[in-house]
Amino acid sequence: MASTHGAEVLVASNRGPVSYEVIEDGSLLAKRGGGGLVSGLSAIGPETNAVWVCAALGGGDREAVRRAGGGLLPAEETGGQRVRMLDIDATVFSDAYNGIANSVLWFVHHMLYQTPLEPVFDAEFRRQWASYEAYNRAFAEALAEEAADGAAVLIQDYHLALAPRMLRRLRPDLRIGHFSHTPWAPPDYFRLLPDDIAAELLTGILGADRAAFLTQRWADAFTDCCHAVLGPGIPSGTRIGVHGLGADADFLRERAHRPDVDERMAALREEIGEGRRTIVRVDRTELSKNIVRGLLAYRQLLEDHPEWRERVVHLAFAYPSRQDLAVYREYTAEVERVAETINSVFGTEGWTPVVLHVKDDFARSLAAYRLADVALVNPIRDGMNLVAKEVPVVSDEGCALVLSREAGAYEELGEDAIVVNPYDIGGTARALHEALSLAGGERAERSKRLAAAATALPPAQWFLDQLGALER
Ligand code: F6P
Repeated sequence: MASTHGAEVLVASNRGPVSYEVIEDGSLLAKRGGGGLVSGLSAIGPETNAVWVCAALGGGDREAVRRAGGGLLPAEETGGQRVRMLDIDATVFSDAYNGIANSVLWFVHHMLYQTPLEPVFDAEFRRQWASYEAYNRAFAEALAEEAADGAAVLIQDYHLALAPRMLRRLRPDLRIGHFSHTPWAPPDYFRLLPDDIAAELLTGILGADRAAFLTQRWADAFTDCCHAVLGPGIPSGTRIGVHGLGADADFLRERAHRPDVDERMAALREEIGEGRRTIVRVDRTELSKNIVRGLLAYRQLLEDHPEWRERVVHLAFAYPSRQDLAVYREYTAEVERVAETINSVFGTEGWTPVVLHVKDDFARSLAAYRLADVALVNPIRDGMNLVAKEVPVVSDEGCALVLSREAGAYEELGEDAIVVNPYDIGGTARALHEALSLAGGERAERSKRLAAAATALPPAQWFLDQLGALER
């Protein structure tokens, strides 16, 4: 297919840099997001014709696509970026996003199944898989239409594992990269998938010139899966790369000192009470984040070390995520139940042991980062975990980091963190005690080293490196 629009750099991801809501008077409210891709695309400068292709996620987005006539969204709503949002049929989208991407691929890569009963790959799965293929095809076709001859296309994540190969067939001239933001499953777990599906996923990504990951561990797991499923060697000659996305220190430090953050700090100080230590966690309420075991470990700490009662508060921010899925709703309820139990068992007149907030508020998250004495990041498995990188950068007094060895961030931060097995409640409780007990000087030193490691590859450079690697 000939190029019609001539973009030289293209990004494709399920979630785009903007989302829309239809408000009461019928107008559209655009809400812009942040993250590595946004910084990256801003860094390449306006002289490069760049387009971001993403999916319409809900009714507001679909209305915005309709008002834009299916073309680029108005630049004033996207922060100047050229964004093409795809209005994929709502059922196809839901099957692909909720059904396959989030209920199968996410579960495989994060190893979340309770295997005696799941997964079940039946006729319903096959029906949803056809939607996942159609969703990937819609992206491949839009990218083929937008790209100039020889353009660079950076395709993101498990939602779009088939798109590289589909796009390669439509446009052999393009330079295609695929980036996985999740962990990659080891072969024994990956092979829970039906053999044909496992092979399709791998060959889909191998349609790219380069497949990149957040850590060497995930890159190696991908290569191991290729060997286990497809045989020795990487059949397509696809190059494998690693780009460990870091925290954006300049942005975070500036943003964390604005008045709205100061206001939130004052409110949090009220909730914490005078002179108490803080253990901070900030997550989407996501199964892989291991929030419930984090709370159980905190409870264990209060049992084993009564000297911390009244002297520490756990600030746990668990923001809604994927609430279309029953298992996420149930998990959210469990987080609330365990937090309430801790408060009713241990709480006193002037002390609430767990301060749980479930309403997403970025300024309040930054306020908690600034107040953190200890950051608790204990995922079952995580591609990177940027919270682990952000808290040491922002915390006012320097923080100790209790970090799961299963987070991608462990590769870079393990040395100065207090490392835990995320399933081990007793071990995590001991790590919390150790973190709370660290002498001020030692904590500040470690925090400084953590912040340096965490900011080694800022988002803009992370993106430019991937583009550069695609050119070579
Ligand atoms: O970690 C993979 C990822 O796609 C991230 O890029 C993103 O933060 C997260 O999952 C969000 O998922 P969703 O778009 O389903 O809310």
